[in-house]
Amino acid sequence: RPIVFSGMQPSSASLHLGNYLGALVNWVALQETTDPVYCVVDLHAITSQQDPEALRADTRALAAQYLAAGVDPERSTLFVQSHVPAHTELAWVLGTMTGFGEASRMTQFKDKSQRFGTEGTTVGLFTYPVLMAADILLYSTELVPVGDDQRQHIELTRDLAARFNSRYGETFVMPEGFIPEASARIYDLQDPTSKMSKSAASDAGLIRLLDDPKITAKKIKSAVTDTEREIRYDVAAKPGISNLLDIFAGVSERTIPEIEAEYAGRGYGDLKKDLAEAVVERLTPFRERFTELLADPAELDRILAHGAEKAAERADRMLGTVYDRVGFLRPT
Ligand code: TYM
Repeated sequence: RPIVFSGMQPSSASLHLGNYLGALVNWVALQETTDPVYCVVDLHAITSQQDPEALRADTRALAAQYLAAGVDPERSTLFVQSHVPAHTELAWVLGTMTGFGEASRMTQFKDKSQRFGTEGTTVGLFTYPVLMAADILLYSTELVPVGDDQRQHIELTRDLAARFNSRYGETFVMPEGFIPEASARIYDLQDPTSKMSKSAASDAGLIRLLDDPKITAKKIKSAVTDTEREIRYDVAAKPGISNLLDIFAGVSERTIPEIEAEYAGRGYGDLKKDLAEAVVERLTPFRERFTELLADPAELDRILAHGAEKAAERADRMLGTVYDRVGFLRPT
């Protein structure tokens, strides 16, 4: 079975609809045919400042959200990144092979460093994609299910894998992104030309999975659209409606042409009302399951400890090979 690796940052209390449709839905589906490794990337999360107690709580809560969405700890390896030291260790080695210019060209880094300024931008933020490459390469990953915003980081991972392999001999498997066509980029409901993100200027465009259903419905009904009346998928001319159609397709498992046909001649209000219902219907069992899981933190910690053990076994093996190839004297 092909190996899959992916992760999300525990940097807020709830995932949003972009995380869910862009990645999590595929994580669950891939369990049928692959050997998946899913990680709560707490080391990545501290590249922006976190409150320690909130980070600890959000780490458990993120693991609970993976499970609530359908990640099955029997079929997937589910763990917390900082529980497996090989991630930071491999990141160091890969960092010595990453060009300064190469890392400087990462658009997420450029965006964030522009926002934070030179003083607010840390070295950790700069080397973030190198740690991500280590995550992926440690497990001989073939497929990385993520949203579109991670595409460039996967390219860097491939470049690093190729560079290491040509310098030290075939070691790493070349990973590929597994990026959904329709929902790879879910946009902000109030500003449908920027991606949905927890750091958006206004809260009104962000659909959090754990929000009260009334709030979710209200946000969808107030989504920004255009002044035409036709429900038609056209990202350039109708970004708001196209985003709603992407979301509708994602939560209802129908295609966009099917939805367009169903709403031919009907108004935006109808579409929004039905979409709000479909989203709430999809998220209600998710929220219930999440609440149950969070009520038993000892059981969650047990699942994570078991996952870390499985992950460490695989990761340590790869790290040992890397240390050998690089020429480190191994302790006896
Ligand atoms: P993170 O935590 O920012 O996002 C988690 C996942 O959600 C996807 N995503 C979106 N998809 C569609 N539309 C959106 N608006 C949207 N916003 C976020 C992201 O593409 C991602 O798949 N660097 C990664 C975490 C990471 C990782 C890894 C991923 C660390 N190591 C190794 C894969 C493999 C990140 O910050 O994701």
